[in-house]
Amino acid sequence: MQQKLITIERHIAEQQQQFPQATGEFSRILRDLTLALRIIARDVRRAGLTDLLGSTRVVNVHGEEVRKLDELAHDVIFRAMDHGGHLCVMASEEAEGLIHIPSNYRRGKYVMVFDPLDGSSNIDANITIGTIFSIYRRLDESLDTPGTLEDILQPGYKQVCAGYAVYGSSTQLVYTTGMGVDVFTFDPTIGEFLLSHPQVRIPPHGSIYSVNEGSFSLWEERLQQYVEYLKTPSTDGRRPYSLRYVGTAVADVHRTLFYGGIFMYPGNRKNPEGKLRLIYEVNPLAKIVTEAGGRASNGCCDVLRIEPTDIHQRTPVFMGSSEDVTELEQFLRGEHPTQRAHE
Ligand code: AHG
Ligand code: MN
Ligand code: MN
Repeated sequence: MQQKLITIERHIAEQQQQFPQATGEFSRILRDLTLALRIIARDVRRAGLTDLLGSTRVVNVHGEEVRKLDELAHDVIFRAMDHGGHLCVMASEEAEGLIHIPSNYRRGKYVMVFDPLDGSSNIDANITIGTIFSIYRRLDESLDTPGTLEDILQPGYKQVCAGYAVYGSSTQLVYTTGMGVDVFTFDPTIGEFLLSHPQVRIPPHGSIYSVNEGSFSLWEERLQQYVEYLKTPSTDGRRPYSLRYVGTAVADVHRTLFYGGIFMYPGNRKNPEGKLRLIYEVNPLAKIVTEAGGRASNGCCDVLRIEPTDIHQRTPVFMGSSEDVTELEQFLRGEHPTQRAHE
């Protein structure tokens, strides 16, 4: 039998009914956000025709060149979310400080953080890109004052919702509110996200690794040993692994969610904290992977437990199938049986 037709709005409303105390506020945030995602998806699809490719020639807080689509996506999300009355503050990878709700609008009890366009360096070559978001409750829900830095600097395990849109061969929206991970596929002919993959589970073990291996010589030796191990054939046929690396974290994690394996953005000698940003990229992606039964580690600990100290801080990350991430951690501790044989 074919699956029932369920739009994302209906799905969110049904989920919300399971909480008798729910006010519907949360559903309205997601409704506003999906409007922004539909607009970004439309603009991404037509970018080559509408002068949306290329750079703005501005450099952002991370020292990276801002693309026109980065700026557009940031603005669209702001314009969809600033006046709903549900958020008290936002933060974006593309804005240096906190993004406050204009004083003429009501402030609510939620906080939203986002990476408006992930995979910017891939835009001009028409390679998959995405948008990442997460939502927290503000620390003191009784307040109606502007949200603060502390509201943004919450550890990832406190996310009440996390998700991403991936603008690939189709547009998909993946999200969790702590009740599993559901995937919706956008039908452009009716303008709706329809539930296409309910309750996705990541395979416990995979056969793909995903990392920018060009930095191999800058890695710590134990990470080098792990990647060498993945490439060495084994008698049980599990290895060698295949290498896949898009260079868009959303796309690499999305593939890992469906096929299993491990996605890594490690620290290295030049950048000990790696590149990915804890608040806008790592935490939401980690929440999705964890909710789907996988793991997300900074090499020794669960990334969702990190207490952030800076809105733009970076962290090394290794996420994907639980057995793969556990094996990687074993290597980084120098405790894998094959390492002991060599050391
Ligand atoms: P963004 O486009 O939001 O700045 O993020 C790009 C990130 C991430 O998507 C990807 O995993 C990583 O950059 C790729 O970096 P390298 O080119 O160093 O591999
Ligand atoms: Mn990004
Ligand atoms: Mn970005």
